[in-house]
Amino acid sequence: MAEIDVIVRDTIFKYLVPICILVSLCVVYIGELSKAIRDRLFGKRLKKFTELYYKRLEDVRKALFDDLNVLESKVVDLKNRGLIRILEIGVGEGTNLSYYPQQSRLVVVDPRPHFVQYFFENKEKFRDIVLEKFVHSGAEHMRKIQSDSVDVVVTTLVQCCVEDADAVLQEILRVLVKGGRYYYLEHVMDHPDTKRYRQQKWLTKLGIWPWIFDGCHLDREFDVQVAKAGFSEVDQKRFFINTAGSRILDIIQPHIVGVAVK
Ligand SMILES: C[S@@+](CC[C@H](N)C(=O)[O-])C[C@H]1O[C@@H](n2cnc3c(N)ncnc32)[C@H](O)[C@@H]1O
Repeated sequence: MAEIDVIVRDTIFKYLVPICILVSLCVVYIGELSKAIRDRLFGKRLKKFTELYYKRLEDVRKALFDDLNVLESKVVDLKNRGLIRILEIGVGEGTNLSYYPQQSRLVVVDPRPHFVQYFFENKEKFRDIVLEKFVHSGAEHMRKIQSDSVDVVVTTLVQCCVEDADAVLQEILRVLVKGGRYYYLEHVMDHPDTKRYRQQKWLTKLGIWPWIFDGCHLDREFDVQVAKAGFSEVDQKRFFINTAGSRILDIIQPHIVGVAVK
């Protein structure tokens, strides 16, 4: 080996590798520390807030999933057995399981480990739903899920958290069987001429909202993205929830609820 190669190799091993390891450890440590500080500061209040928020959305969720019980599968072997396959993206604790038909085949995708335990605890209450697969990855690349294999895809309050909602939509279109349905309930950015729009923009740009609310973005225009994604039909509406005087809830408006058909 030439002398210069030896010098470069030795320098890399002596300095560069330890520095890279140290920097990575610092990044992980700072990330964990930041989460610990956030949980210490807001943990209990966030839990209460989430409960209130979810209560306000209960009727909308119920109405959204109302027709799941009468849906016929377009996947041949499931249709013959009177079953449907549902893929829930960003399943979290499994808040939507109570709306799924008995015996449905369920596939879930969620990259974050901290919900897993709560999901499985909740799943115990719905033993008749068959969990086929739990994929621990972002929905931008759902390689472990076959194309044209799913009747229903669900996201509720997820598209504000993903890194690339357009990529997720293309993956949804890929995995849905032809005629399959995508059910969604999300919050989106308000109109540009409102005070709320400015709050949403700056709270997100400065990273304050994503830090407190676990990566949530207030500045998404998901309704526009779904409309452009390439579904054959999109039926969606904007709505405002009753905020019960909560100024925080008031910032997460408006919402959209819809069904898009492949
Ligand atoms: C606000 S929680 C909503 C949980 C659940 N859908 C509900 O309605 O209760 C957002 C969820 O999205 C998940 N998530 C974040 N980024 C994601 C991604 N790239 N792909 C799939 N899920 C993601 C989070 O781990 C979390 O479970």
